[in-house]
Amino acid sequence: MTQNYPQKVRIVEVGPRDGLQNEKNIVPANVKVAFIDMLSDSGLRTIEAGAFVSPKWVPQMADTADVFAAIAKKSGVSYPVLVPNAKGMESAVAAGVREIAVFAAASESFSQKNINCSIAESIERFKPVIDEAKKHGIAVRGYVSCVLGCPYEGEIAPEAVVHVAKELFGLGCYEISLGDTIGTGTPVKTRLLLQAVKKEIPVQHIAAHFHDTYGQALANLVIALEEGVSVIDSAAAGLGGCPYARGATGNVSTEDVLYMLHGMGIETGVDIEKIAAAGRFIAEAVGKSPVSKVAQVYLARI
Ligand code: HMG
Ligand code: MG
Repeated sequence: MTQNYPQKVRIVEVGPRDGLQNEKNIVPANVKVAFIDMLSDSGLRTIEAGAFVSPKWVPQMADTADVFAAIAKKSGVSYPVLVPNAKGMESAVAAGVREIAVFAAASESFSQKNINCSIAESIERFKPVIDEAKKHGIAVRGYVSCVLGCPYEGEIAPEAVVHVAKELFGLGCYEISLGDTIGTGTPVKTRLLLQAVKKEIPVQHIAAHFHDTYGQALANLVIALEEGVSVIDSAAAGLGGCPYARGATGNVSTEDVLYMLHGMGIETGVDIEKIAAAGRFIAEAVGKSPVSKVAQVYLARI
């Protein structure tokens, strides 16, 4: 039933940001740069390069300006960075960033823990950030976290997600990435969530950002594809996790996603061998083995 799935999927590689923001050891800027340059050579069109957040909150991202300045920016590839407030936006503009991502949550408690304000305050904070982005012709992506569960509140109602997603889309985010931050989602819940969000936001503007904590990410992604989602966030080697979401482990690995999509006859334009090599490189740098099964197969082939 291949005809029910999108023919092409765009992969948003979040490894250099989501993959590294929660690592105990801070990865040196030159290693991040080498990692991003390897990713740029794989056919990816979007690579999240870092975050202009408070270094007190997330020291792992403190060198984003240096990293962004040093990467070899490939034409046709976007290198978004996370921006939580006006100060982050100033840094993004100074760095010459062409795309940013703002990030809100569907859970009040997570919003407080992650960005120290309520959901409503976060939306207010994003308004001038997005206005500033528009002035500079900078594209804005919007994240909603905890869409399928919260580490502090447990179940999250789809309506809570729809509310925040609609606000961000209304402010001018060109795409809304739905984050299963702690990977607790399962397929039926994923379908119900997407069906609810699709009523308010056209599906071509929805991305799936699933963490694989409970090993459900690929199953949930198949549902997302069936619902028409054609943008998937993933991280090479399956690194990742949010420092303010206890127990949240890796993003779904780019290797796993590519293997599945290519096996389904869905085009991505991304070279899985090159991603596996980049994943191996960064996993070694943080002293971990890739958690992804597909990555392990590629590792065994060296
Ligand atoms: P706050 O403490 O309320 O902010 O934090 P503040 O305005 O009071 O500032 C505190 C200090 O931070 C000040 O420094 C500011 O200058 C500085 P001091 O005067 O004490 O020396 N500061 C900054 N420095 C650099 N860049 C900035 C910045 N802003 C303030 N932009 C704040 C509020 C939002 C800043 C903080 O909570 C924060 O940075 N949070 C970010 C947390 C984060 O990055 N989480 C991970 C990303 S989200 C995620 O992983 C989920 C996602 O993957 C999707 C999913 O999986 O669901 C996207
Ligand atoms: Mg994430």
